[in-house]
Amino acid sequence: MKNFWYCGLIIAVIGVMTGLSGLVSAQHSAVIEFKNKGEMVRTLRLDELDKIVTASSLKVFEAHEKRARIYQVYPARQLFDQVFGKGWRAAEEVVFLCEDGYQPSIPVAKLVAYDAYFAFASADDLPFTLTNVLQNNEMVKLGPLYLVWDNLKAAELREHGAVDMPYQVVGIELASFADRFPHLSPPVGASQEVQQGFVHFRKHCIACHTINGQGGGKAPELNYPVSVTEYLQPEYLKRWIDDPAGIRYNTTMPALAAETPEREQVMAELIAYLKAMSTVKRLPDAAP
Ligand code: HEC
Repeated sequence: MKNFWYCGLIIAVIGVMTGLSGLVSAQHSAVIEFKNKGEMVRTLRLDELDKIVTASSLKVFEAHEKRARIYQVYPARQLFDQVFGKGWRAAEEVVFLCEDGYQPSIPVAKLVAYDAYFAFASADDLPFTLTNVLQNNEMVKLGPLYLVWDNLKAAELREHGAVDMPYQVVGIELASFADRFPHLSPPVGASQEVQQGFVHFRKHCIACHTINGQGGGKAPELNYPVSVTEYLQPEYLKRWIDDPAGIRYNTTMPALAAETPEREQVMAELIAYLKAMSTVKRLPDAAP
């Protein structure tokens, strides 16, 4: 009888261990694709990165959890130098493709000015996951790669909140924003307010939402065939940006960061941009 019990226990322990090592090896063998303007440059398994870049550990302010965490990281610029050559600095944007459809693009200037790192494991005793307080406390896995910034060194980076911290990164692409997302540009002759709204939209919204089919695949299309400015009452459109959970209980859309400077004006400019885009609807994938 007793033997039976031990046997069961041992089998259960082995089961859990193979389950865990399965997860760990899935992380190691994850493949990252590197592209330059749509052309594949290189694909690397996560465990191959160790051969071309130097790992270290980094303590950051974890904006998704609003506390400090420590990760094992590779320096982003060193990785880009190795994969793309030093010429990557002449590109305009780096687009990050994530498993969950999130697709932020970050200006090269920011990656040159500040120290970004790719986290690939935890270095505190927490699992390589986080609880996203900005998205209804959703629990998310961070691997294969998670972009973090040395934000304890730079207050302005902490002001950016979690906007430029994509997790589950599986693709990295050098791009020019206008070439890659031609259907997002405001109509010709648009006002200064609309142009500003476009800048904010790129910074705060496009990683999740699409306009005319272009942008991130994590949230609903906002312009085609009917624009949100046409079916939402203006008061509610503003509230979606200001306080989404005040409209939909359990929504995973984060509010426009409370730290955003000139927040009221930013919201007005965002709405001006969305209105302007309703005059240039394009069938997703149709030629510009
Ligand atoms: C992290 C991803 C994410 C970001 C960033 C984000 N949203 Fe959303 N948004 C969502 C999701 C998901 C929904 C769907 C909400 C739901 O079903 O609860 C949504 C819904 C909306 C809606 C309602 C659409 C409808 O038809 O009901 C509007 C309007 C909207 N977002 C605008 C914006 C604007 C403007 C920004 C930038 C300031 C933005 N969102 C940033 C994820 C995001």
